[in-house]
Amino acid sequence: MDNGQNLVRERDIKLGDVGHTIILENEHVRIWEVRLEPGETIDFHMHYHPCVIISLNGDANLVETIFGDTRDTFEPMGKTLWFGDPRPIHRLHNKSDVTYVSRLIELLHIEWKIDGTMVKGSLSAAETPDGSKAPELSKEVSDALEEILIQTDDLEWSPKSLDGLYQKMLWRNEATGASIALIRFDKGVGIPSAHLHASNQFMYCLKGKYRYIPTGITLVPGSYYCNPKGCVHGPTIADEDSVFLEIYDGPHYPVKPDWYDNEEDAT
Ligand SMILES: [Fe+2]
Ligand SMILES: [Fe+2]
Repeated sequence: MDNGQNLVRERDIKLGDVGHTIILENEHVRIWEVRLEPGETIDFHMHYHPCVIISLNGDANLVETIFGDTRDTFEPMGKTLWFGDPRPIHRLHNKSDVTYVSRLIELLHIEWKIDGTMVKGSLSAAETPDGSKAPELSKEVSDALEEILIQTDDLEWSPKSLDGLYQKMLWRNEATGASIALIRFDKGVGIPSAHLHASNQFMYCLKGKYRYIPTGITLVPGSYYCNPKGCVHGPTIADEDSVFLEIYDGPHYPVKPDWYDNEEDAT
């Protein structure tokens, strides 16, 4: 994937940072202030980490990619943006008559290479488009697979904060949120609300009868079910004690659903 790194080299452009001032940095996050007076532009830059951007003040901005594409954005106070995927090298221009101020929170556990692929560990200077030092990961992300054999009968069912829902986690990638688990619903229990997932979800029913109430889709032993990222489904009900193998290829939810008491249960 070309994020514009070739153009950066050809034009000998010196990339800047994603923000102006680092307000806080620890092993998990780096929080920047972005501040653009009317008419100002932040230098072309590359985002090496997923980030959340929260506007504290602003109005009309313009995003311009290194390829010359432009896009108007409206970022008044409270506007929140999520960069969950790598994007082309770009710069931001404040085209309003008010100061644009935001907090940009980089999530350091995931790091993108300049070509948009995900890596663990830090980039070497040679891999950055302008030869500058890329932000370093302060925590090693370990997602290595290893040969393992788990006898799932030997694992205890771990209750979640929704009464009657249990899991046996078999594998989880802390960097991406992907997971493989056995899930058990007691009869009469279900997910109480319509909801969507932040990644693709795959289920294989081993036991029971489990129903998506609005659509009537019902899983019985041998059923395979896929719900693509972003598709709303549910609420659900287990008509019988039900057990599934459940696979997510990324984070389970965009935000913690209200039927769970804690973040861990939502992952
Ligand atoms: Fe940016
Ligand atoms: Fe769901």
